[in-house]
Amino acid sequence: MPLVSMRQLLDEAAKGGYGVGAFNVNDMEQIQAIMMAAKETKSPVIVQASRGARQFAEDLYLFRLIQAAAELNPDIPIAMHQDHGNSFETCKSAITLGYTSVMMDGSLKEDGKTPSSFEENVEVTRRVVDYAHERGVTVEGEIGVLGGVEDGHGAGGSGLDHITDPDQAVEFAERTGVDALAIAIGTSHGAYKFTKKPDGSVLKMDVLIAIHKRLPKTHLVMHGSSSVPKDLQDIVNKYGGNLKETWGVPVEEIQLGIRNGVRKVNVDTDNRLAITGAIRKVFAETPEKFDPRDYMKPAREAMKKVVAQRMVEFGQAGHAGDYSPIAIAEIAKGYKDGSLSTQPLVAAK
Ligand code: 13P
Repeated sequence: MPLVSMRQLLDEAAKGGYGVGAFNVNDMEQIQAIMMAAKETKSPVIVQASRGARQFAEDLYLFRLIQAAAELNPDIPIAMHQDHGNSFETCKSAITLGYTSVMMDGSLKEDGKTPSSFEENVEVTRRVVDYAHERGVTVEGEIGVLGGVEDGHGAGGSGLDHITDPDQAVEFAERTGVDALAIAIGTSHGAYKFTKKPDGSVLKMDVLIAIHKRLPKTHLVMHGSSSVPKDLQDIVNKYGGNLKETWGVPVEEIQLGIRNGVRKVNVDTDNRLAITGAIRKVFAETPEKFDPRDYMKPAREAMKKVVAQRMVEFGQAGHAGDYSPIAIAEIAKGYKDGSLSTQPLVAAK
């Protein structure tokens, strides 16, 4: 099937009360791992590429691989999403390539490091929304700033530095018309999110719930949602890695989020850990091997296992056949005639 609008995918997830994993890719094996997991669990899926990934793989290679994934898996709805677009131009180039969804991360300035003002964020996000919706493309915005740095993108620091203010979230959703809203609740990109199992003092699920109460129909997005499982850390370290003890976002907290409006769940680090552990194992146990297939195959399998598990845990498993894709041109008409709403339902405080 053709690539699907992320808006359609998230609207369906809201109807079904489940979340959809958005998994980052840089290469063919990661795309294959995601598709193998989606096929096995019968899941709709969001595949996403950061600016770093687009640069690493080269735009055309990566996009053609996604098109191949869609062609080879006609029963799986796939949305292709630009992760953390830093400017109007970045989002425009993804749309020109054929991405069906973009994130305009206006929470940071174009350098991808410096927090921007609320007004700057509204202005650039609104501009992307106008351009994207005219072309049937979904837009995710971000209000509040995540911690950490990934692929050179991020303000650094703790996830607690710029937690989302629920009132600002409401105003941002109203003024931009975004389809999905990423919020900052204490998570950060990468492996080092928390120094112990997170509780409510560092992982602000109360803020997420407060935002969902004010914006009950808005699709919320949880970034930095790798769980950084101990068994994956242990494999990396057992075979010569050097990861410090660390904690991610427990799956049960993500599930609490999903019960409170989270529809898109971003996962990258867990897959990176799974791949690295599997490759290290082959290198350590059979140092005489040098055919890349000898370590890329187990690496792909290890990532597939993590992705399939998350698909079941997020609830998207079994939902691939629930709906047929609406053509992107029809989605564009829907935004134009108002049948696809871009104004959030706002509940009183
Ligand atoms: P993790 O580093 O927790 O996997 O988060 C990835 C992410 O949020 C990509 O935008």
